[in-house]
Amino acid sequence: MSNSKYKVLSVLKKNIGEYVSGESLSETLGVTRAAVWKYIKELKQQGYKIDSSTKKGYMLEHSSDNLNEYELMEGLKTEFIGKRLEYFDVLDSTNNYAKKIAAEGCENGTVVVADNQTEGRGRMGRTWYTACGKGIWMTLVLRPPIQIEEVQLFTLGAAVAVARAIRSLTGFEAGIKWPNDIILEGRKVCGILTEMSSEESNVNFIVIGIGINVSHTLEDFPEDIRDRATSLMLYSDKSGKKGQLILDRADLIKNILFEIEKIYSKINNNSSKEILGDWKTYSVTLGSKVRIIIKGTEYEGTAVDIEQDGSLTVECIDGVRRRVLSGEIQVRGIFGYI
Ligand code: BTN
Repeated sequence: MSNSKYKVLSVLKKNIGEYVSGESLSETLGVTRAAVWKYIKELKQQGYKIDSSTKKGYMLEHSSDNLNEYELMEGLKTEFIGKRLEYFDVLDSTNNYAKKIAAEGCENGTVVVADNQTEGRGRMGRTWYTACGKGIWMTLVLRPPIQIEEVQLFTLGAAVAVARAIRSLTGFEAGIKWPNDIILEGRKVCGILTEMSSEESNVNFIVIGIGINVSHTLEDFPEDIRDRATSLMLYSDKSGKKGQLILDRADLIKNILFEIEKIYSKINNNSSKEILGDWKTYSVTLGSKVRIIIKGTEYEGTAVDIEQDGSLTVECIDGVRRRVLSGEIQVRGIFGYI
């Protein structure tokens, strides 16, 4: 990350809508005016709308939704999550890259963000569709001192963190479909893929991959998922606030990281009940009629509870309560996606 370039950006952002002279930029930052000009040119290439005037200097016209290390780290309120953050214009999959650097020993809390993925992966070996520049595609590396059975808590916790961050930034009533899809009015807006490396029953590291559809139009989704997927922008249009959602992806990412850090410390302080409680508050699955398949046999029933290992308890119509683990089965609502 070119520090001086982002210092120029920082000054322009503080004076958004006003001109700052090249001279004062060069003096404040201790760089030549030619260097200022070069940084401005690079920032424009990155998509920042900067007006240049020979007489008045440079003006950032309006805030933008650019992702880069500066935007992602400026104002980040966490203690350790995201203190190492790597941004890429494109990766095959942020989970793949995160696993690679985790195996090489990267710090607890390292975050990987990409504007595009060529081989985004979803749960159960599925492909995750990534629209370039229109979403949040990121992975977090955590090294909690836990046993394999506790990993699911982090996945549930990550879903709580995303739901909470979306709720606080947009006011939308984001819900959680078991185990960790984030839902807006019955459509999926975010998926989470947790993977881990372990030795015997001890966890070396976990990577939590989060994909959020932010500014997709319906046509941006492949046809086969159009009836089930949504984006924050589409949802805001649908809820009568057309074009009113001004959402900065970097802000949402920083909010999520902040929420995840709070959850991390709750798990470390043995307050996992609280996380399950939060998950239940946001759940759109509990209380719903569901169909589950266990070893080839289908059962219908009502989802009634969630356990610490992430398993869902279903009260089946034959009167038997059955527990199902994520990864083993798929739960589909009888009356639609939820
Ligand atoms: C799901 O199937 O619902 C999980 C989708 C997870 C997608 C995210 S996008 C960022 C990270 N990198 C990946 O390859 N997958 C996850």
